Amino acid sequence: MNEYDEPLFFQVMQYASNADRDIVDMVSGNPDWEPPDALRDGLHEYADADAADFQYGPSEGLTDLREQIGARRNIDSDNIIITHGAGEANYLAMAQAVECSDVNTPEFLLTDPVYPYYPGKASLLDATATHVPVHDDGHLNIDAIQDAASTDTVAIVLNTPNNPTGAVYNRAALNDVAAIAADIDALVIVDEVYDHFDFTGDFESALTLSSYTDRIIVTSAFSKSMAITGFRVGYAVFPPALVDAAQTRHMLVTVSGSRPAQRAVSDALEKTPPSYYASVRNTIRERIDTFTNALETIGAAYTEPEGAFYVMARFDDLPGTLENVEYLIDEAGVAGMPGEAFGNAYDDWIRFSLCTDRISIAGDRLMTFFQNS
Ligand SMILES: Cc1ncc(COP(=O)(O)O)c(C=O)c1O
Repeated sequence: MNEYDEPLFFQVMQYASNADRDIVDMVSGNPDWEPPDALRDGLHEYADADAADFQYGPSEGLTDLREQIGARRNIDSDNIIITHGAGEANYLAMAQAVECSDVNTPEFLLTDPVYPYYPGKASLLDATATHVPVHDDGHLNIDAIQDAASTDTVAIVLNTPNNPTGAVYNRAALNDVAAIAADIDALVIVDEVYDHFDFTGDFESALTLSSYTDRIIVTSAFSKSMAITGFRVGYAVFPPALVDAAQTRHMLVTVSGSRPAQRAVSDALEKTPPSYYASVRNTIRERIDTFTNALETIGAAYTEPEGAFYVMARFDDLPGTLENVEYLIDEAGVAGMPGEAFGNAYDDWIRFSLCTDRISIAGDRLMTFFQNS
């Protein structure tokens, strides 16, 4: 099996679940908090809907869901395709970048560290992936992106707020990347699945870069913002010239997305007050503080996330290899993700997801482990 047949993620989860002791799972990005109330209400109501509502919905997604997204994001809903999560949205975007270029050896520019599914998708599309290291604080190194950009580059793929670094890219950085892409006639794909998890107030969607709307594709989902990774409701916003081809691909692969899930998301989008998202953000902030305080005590290096819900840590004498992550599972009872899963730049690090309410237990266990080792 190669890496995209079985991502490292599944191996670590499997290892942790087979352990003989209690493990604090800080591997997955599956929210452990409640979805909005309106989401559950929408699902209950759907169960009693007419049988006709249980049949195929529009392939591009339910109209009112697309219109709500369009209104919130100030864009034309005709350019929105509802997808099976951000995962399918990223696939459609990357496939479109390859399809609409006339490059023989298509290449994607990715950051290093990177969310591992992007290189997996590049390889699925017979394209290469060039990893461009970010600055030490996780922010984009524009000069390095400029140097790496070539006539083979079909798209530059970004994720902000970022998994795994927690960096939130500002508007100027996004603009610089779009300008580089314009010079080489490439697309920019921006995955904004963590847009509700911005602690800086600086996050701005790439959709607001009005000078580059013809080459920016934004992807997102409700998986994280509504704590429903199992629902598989996401979306992609394409430039008008690309949306029809992407829609055809979406239709041929999936026919259409799940209708009850879209209905419930649409209800929740309409009825959920901003306080829901703010309260989840506060929970994550507290978890960040609890966990980074423990890392500080241990004397580890760590990232201070500006967004998303992951902390990366580097422990002296324990580089973030799969072997060491398994050792921490066995000896400390805490499971993280090896840094090597995210590229080369952070392969000494371990990523910890904050999707558990047992953060202080994890911190205590790590402190005890490192004090005794
Ligand atoms: C950066 C990033 N993009 C996309 C996804 C997948 O999102 P979805 O579950 O909506 O497909 C994740 C999941 O962790 C992610 O971290």
